[in-house]
Amino acid sequence: MSLDWKAMIEGRRSIRRFKPDPIPEEDIRELARLATLAPSGSNKQMWRFVAVTNKEVLAQMAAAVSAAVERMAAWPEAVGRERRILGIKNYSLFFTEAPVTFAVFMEPYQSAADTIMRDHGLSREEINHLRGAPDFQSIGAAIQNLLLAAHAMGYGGCWMCGPVVAADEINRILGVEPPFSLVALVPIGIPDENPPARPRKPLDEVFRLVD
Ligand SMILES: Cc1cc2nc3c(=O)[nH]c(=O)nc-3n(C[C@H](O)[C@H](O)[C@H](O)COP(=O)(O)O)c2cc1C
Repeated sequence: MSLDWKAMIEGRRSIRRFKPDPIPEEDIRELARLATLAPSGSNKQMWRFVAVTNKEVLAQMAAAVSAAVERMAAWPEAVGRERRILGIKNYSLFFTEAPVTFAVFMEPYQSAADTIMRDHGLSREEINHLRGAPDFQSIGAAIQNLLLAAHAMGYGGCWMCGPVVAADEINRILGVEPPFSLVALVPIGIPDENPPARPRKPLDEVFRLVD
């Protein structure tokens, strides 16, 4: 790794176009290893990563995503929202172009506090409000590690939740059993685009200091 930490954070972009060059297996394993150095609630490490380079398997995953989006497009609630649906498709399918796509799975984390709240009759929404969904937060930390590590190693990638619409099918295609379930795909490869930084809200809109 050669970039200093600030350049690494500032220079990362979501990359959606990739050169076809394959990524060496040792780099794929190193990316997975660095992802797993993220913090996790009670150190439960409730993530699993499956790196897919097989084009046939990627095509099956993409077909499942397409079909899931089509099913949604047929819902009465989708009428008049056709352009949005097309947008969802475009936003969800480009992972097949990357030389490797990490499928990220999560085992829901049930802490003692969660169990007590559930037994007390709180809804999932109320429990999330009081617990902050530490399992999802942990997975987010791991994915960010993965993306920053990829950038530092000269690769680019994109965090994708769009394809999760086909979670059940992708779980099955990749042989992943409950309680694990897909929460994101992260295609990685050598960038074939150099997008400008996406705008950020002014710091003072999203941050304040209480002193
Ligand atoms: C939780 C999450 C889900 C996302 N899902 C998608 C996705 O399905 N497809 C996609 O193209 N980008 C997806 N993105 C990427 C965002 O669009 C991107 O991070 C944002 O526009 C900021 O751009 P930047 O990453 O280049 O800074 C996702 C990002 C996050 C954090």
